[in-house]
Amino acid sequence: MEKIIVNGPCRLEGEVTISGAKNAAVAILPATLLVAGKCHLENVPNISDIRAFVKILESLGSKIEYVSEHEMIIDNTNIHTTVAPYDLTSKFRASYYLLGALLSRFGNAQISLPGGCNIGARPIDQHIKAFETLGAEVEVKRGNVYATSKKLEASSIFFDVVTVGGTINAILAATLVPGTTTIENCAKEPHIVDVANFLNSVGASIKGAGTDVIKVTGVKSLKQTSSYAIIPDQIEAGTFMVAAAATKGDVLIKNCIPKHMEPISAKLEESGAEVIEYEDSIRVRMNKSPKAINIKTLPYPGFPTDMQPQFGTYLTLATGSSMIVESIWESRFQYTAELVKMGATISYHDRTAMFTGVKELYGSPVKAMDLRAGAAMIIAGLTAHGATEIYDIHHIERGYENIVDKFKALGANIEYEITND
Ligand code: EPU
Repeated sequence: MEKIIVNGPCRLEGEVTISGAKNAAVAILPATLLVAGKCHLENVPNISDIRAFVKILESLGSKIEYVSEHEMIIDNTNIHTTVAPYDLTSKFRASYYLLGALLSRFGNAQISLPGGCNIGARPIDQHIKAFETLGAEVEVKRGNVYATSKKLEASSIFFDVVTVGGTINAILAATLVPGTTTIENCAKEPHIVDVANFLNSVGASIKGAGTDVIKVTGVKSLKQTSSYAIIPDQIEAGTFMVAAAATKGDVLIKNCIPKHMEPISAKLEESGAEVIEYEDSIRVRMNKSPKAINIKTLPYPGFPTDMQPQFGTYLTLATGSSMIVESIWESRFQYTAELVKMGATISYHDRTAMFTGVKELYGSPVKAMDLRAGAAMIIAGLTAHGATEIYDIHHIERGYENIVDKFKALGANIEYEITND
């Protein structure tokens, strides 16, 4: 069994470099399926979700060559099947992007119903609606999703809810469809813009990504002429920003896009931290306990749900009571029970949690309930007195590259421990 042990408290100090964005990479890898040739990607994060995606693509016939740890060439000339392996696609959410990409290039696709973190009901009805609007037939049976179409046609798609995955999937499905498809009520997250930028760099015609109306004019084929570098991870950067403030530290977070960090920077400043923006880095300094603040998670440019557990942890040590309203994922407060084991005072009902600041947390065995909750447990361990043992760390490894080494380099007393039980 593998666990992470953090001996706290500590003060983080120094520099950390942020990796490529998980949620952009897990969309851009399947997006390469639209190119009947080679794609050269840089700044690909070395995380388990990407390693799983590499296996899925290889099972479809992609030839993948690693040029270096973060750089790969994917050759999708000889895709021999559009049926993705159940055991791999059922493990994570982003496998749904295979539907849009394979449907667009080959007219059919089969994946398992996507898995992923247990943070709430994760329907894909809006993805299916987008494919059907373009003329596909989609059937969900016995845990699989089957999408087929004789001929997709450009159309107008209107999302009933703002969905990141649905928006990207609609773009993927429309990229090779003749005519102009209009997608309305789109999500605006930075990784949606990154996927559109990648596709435009290989010859697609996508306008409006980053706004709520996106227009995709179908092209006959795509071809890469130069390599494409994936954007830095907004949530990894945000996690280190909060960790710096929570430990009353001073950390320079390098290779991030300060514009993407604004909702996070604003809340840290409101809590009393100093946030200094440079061109492609951010410094966070803090020398006191945070002030209590209120947060409501919203689609971008609102406060990201993927930063909610890290902020919740930070606010356990605030002066006063803070309220967090989670409006995206209904089960995203499960981590609060782990923090209570460490001495936090938290109560929640439905989608609202109250955090009453305590003087200190103490180390205890806790579980990484999901990816972001796992990162939150590390932050808790850094601030707590004594040893915090974090179990189920495979969740953390899905989305954070080298997290133990990165925290260690900032002065944390943190280690992996592998036992034979
Ligand atoms: N929704 C529907 N129907 C759909 C799709 C979504 O009702 O067909 C609802 C969801 O239930 C949810 C809301 O719409 O309440 C937003 O879901 P969205 O589709 O935007 O989420 P997602 O694409 O499944 C991505 C990230 C998540 C992140 C959310 C919100 C990826 C692979 N995942 O999920 O990231 O929380 O957007 O920003 O991009 C994480 O990285 O830890 C993570 C969970």
